[in-house]
Amino acid sequence: MSQSQADSNAKSFRHALGCFPTGVAVITTTDAQGQPVGLTCNSFSSVSLEPPLVSWSLRKSSKSIEIFRQTKQFAINVLSHKQDDLSGRFASSSKTMAEKFAAHPYTAGWGSTPVLDDCIANFQCSVFASHDAGDHVIFIGQVEAFEQSSDEDALVFYKGAYMMLAQSLRALSQKGGASEAELVQARGAVYTTLVRLACAAAQPADLQLIEQNLRVLDGHVAEGNMHRRAEAAITFFKQLTTAAHNEMLAIVAQSLTAILEFTVSERVARSQAPALYLPALNPLRWLVLERLRAQDADGAAAAMSQYFDLVAASR
Ligand SMILES: Cc1cc2nc3c(=O)[nH]c(=O)nc-3n(C[C@H](O)[C@H](O)[C@H](O)COP(=O)(O)O)c2cc1C
Repeated sequence: MSQSQADSNAKSFRHALGCFPTGVAVITTTDAQGQPVGLTCNSFSSVSLEPPLVSWSLRKSSKSIEIFRQTKQFAINVLSHKQDDLSGRFASSSKTMAEKFAAHPYTAGWGSTPVLDDCIANFQCSVFASHDAGDHVIFIGQVEAFEQSSDEDALVFYKGAYMMLAQSLRALSQKGGASEAELVQARGAVYTTLVRLACAAAQPADLQLIEQNLRVLDGHVAEGNMHRRAEAAITFFKQLTTAAHNEMLAIVAQSLTAILEFTVSERVARSQAPALYLPALNPLRWLVLERLRAQDADGAAAAMSQYFDLVAASR
């Protein structure tokens, strides 16, 4: 096999491995002088429940390899979806260990291993075994202590990038990848379907919440508080989504709302919130609620599409 064939094989092997989404963790330990050492890792995996074992693998060319070969303990700090910057910092070979640890608080865990604050979980391990495996060393740790400190979503690494659905969608809308007209059209299609479903699925409590929020929204309009009005308008759509009781469509609607919230908050920041206000939309929201109460799916869908026609015409 020629060198270029080998390179291209290695590249396609890495690509194929990237099809498997993983979480992201920072592995920490201390060196012979007791100084903290850490690096970002996505090769963390559970191995055994009894005894509790986990594993991860480290590149032999890593600057930290000798420290990990010699240490008797390490900790696995599982990162949340908000900690992509922390992941980047601990993956950077140009940063010293002092720089990696300087900006993030940590406490000494089992065997004095540094445990990073604010991670969603940590596993404090003694070294159970290590195995030479090609250009990596596999470390197996026996879990001596662990904590799950938060219910936040994990940071996910997939196809060579962090996967943050809402953020990716925002980035897409910012870059102009999704035009505002397309966004309005997509929302129109999704919410017309959602209100149809809500006609059959909504519970009295769902409709009551929608009514309460519409009253609040009218109050904000009367006071001229356009920022609060915009928030209540978004709440109206979240409540419609809940009332439809369909998880898959709820995910689609949530993603569209994430983009919308971003667009609206940007405009509010530029004091353009009043420009988003269309008085003709107020009676249409009430009409949607009235048709939901009457379980009139065609009527609710018609009111909803009229709503989005008005929005589309105003942009
Ligand atoms: C998401 C992500 C996952 C990583 N997973 C591993 C891993 O499992 N094993 C590894 O050796 N390096 C992994 N790395 C790379 C190391 O974090 C990086 O090479 C190291 O911190 C740099 O220090 P070094 O120059 O001493 O190797 C990963 C990097 C990122 C961004």
